Amino acid sequence: MPSRTIIEPFRIHTVQAIDLPTVEAREAALTRAGYNLFGLHADEVIIDLLTDSGTGAMSSEQWAGMMRGDESYAGSRSFYRFESAVKDLTGFAEVIPTHQGRAAEKILFSVMVSDGDVVPNNTHFDTTRANVEYQGGEAVDLVEPSEPAEILPFKGNMDIGALRSTIERAGVERVPLVMMTVTNNSGGGQPVSMANLREVRAVCDEYGIPLFLDACRFAENAWFIKLREDGYADRTPKEIAQEMFSIADGCTVSAKKDGLVNIGGFLALNDRETAVAARNLLILTEGFPTYGGLAGYDLEALARGLEEVVDEHYLRYRIRSTEYLADKIAGAGVPIVQPAGGHAVYLDAKSLLPHIPPHAYPAQALAIELYRNGGVRGVEIGTVMFGRCDPDGGPDHPAPMELVRLAIPRRTYTQSHIDYVAEVVIEVAQSAPELRGYRIVEQAPWLRHFTARFEPLPG
Ligand code: F0G
Repeated sequence: MPSRTIIEPFRIHTVQAIDLPTVEAREAALTRAGYNLFGLHADEVIIDLLTDSGTGAMSSEQWAGMMRGDESYAGSRSFYRFESAVKDLTGFAEVIPTHQGRAAEKILFSVMVSDGDVVPNNTHFDTTRANVEYQGGEAVDLVEPSEPAEILPFKGNMDIGALRSTIERAGVERVPLVMMTVTNNSGGGQPVSMANLREVRAVCDEYGIPLFLDACRFAENAWFIKLREDGYADRTPKEIAQEMFSIADGCTVSAKKDGLVNIGGFLALNDRETAVAARNLLILTEGFPTYGGLAGYDLEALARGLEEVVDEHYLRYRIRSTEYLADKIAGAGVPIVQPAGGHAVYLDAKSLLPHIPPHAYPAQALAIELYRNGGVRGVEIGTVMFGRCDPDGGPDHPAPMELVRLAIPRRTYTQSHIDYVAEVVIEVAQSAPELRGYRIVEQAPWLRHFTARFEPLPG
């Protein structure tokens, strides 16, 4: 059989126009926004790869489900459909809806984490880290070390030796839970193997510590396991996902990713006592436990999304289309995190812009240039997002990597959009030596990347 193009396994049913702002309009938008791409208006962006979160297209079945939404305050039918979809997938006994992932994190950590605790994760996402720190905990990243350009099948795996020594250092009573982020977003959208999940579980069992998944991209992780891990080629993505969840005691999920919805999330777990405490907080902050900050119709769309996302045709297309962008960019010699992540391609600004030091934000400079050149909006994942201000006013403490993430919304852009993005990236990379760094002129005490304002450094 000749190999054929892997096509989008859907056809377009509704379209939304893309604005095409001129380069002058983009320059003006950058100045207004203080060179922070979060400050751009969406109609100032041509291809929006800021995030894959909540930006995907829903299916006609999901929209149809929304018409069935039961908006009863308590005991809505839509809640029970949602609960049964989550239980079928995860096997967890207690299912708590939230308006998005960080609300589930906030509730879980409020219940489980106290001042001085240590929470290990392969790599915390920014909101996860901030929510641990908000409780007075220390968020520790223990991903197995690797070089960005190194091609390994499971670069999201946790370093088991480091996990053990972190628990020994903190003292087991100071480690309320271990988390595993699947796929590992901040570390390049890289997957975690089933074997590594089992090893982490074994260490958790040894010390009696619960294991939670940050499972926003569980289906993409399951697909990578199917492709890359021995013994899984003949298993369905759903069976693999079920096995992943069966290894953990609970999960937080932003359903805006692999839930295939524009808003929604949940916390699911087995321990009844923790669930009761979480529900009490939920009532205070999100809403009654059968809607948790969502409309009944959102719960319907989510229940359906969890079924659609484990479809093999969808996942084959999804993972291949991300790899397609990576192949084009890397093929032109632009340094990226290898191999391609599930939901995004990560440009390695540290390699591309060695003349810009971390405290002059090379990845921010690259992200700005992609927007200026072609209206493509990505996001900095480097020292702006994860670096630390020096308390004595010196240069920032740098993040381990300086990346620009080009995150691909699900079922939204076509191959020609992606070809355009590759053209812009390659053109900007050719002018890399001319790019300059930036300095921060205004910043918030946490999650500064959302609102900071920047100024270009003099040439
Ligand atoms: N965990 C991970 C791994 C995430 O990627 C995100 C969100 C969250 C938790 C929080 O979920 O946004 O629903 O509150 N990531 C988005 C991103 C924002 O762009 O990667 P949320």
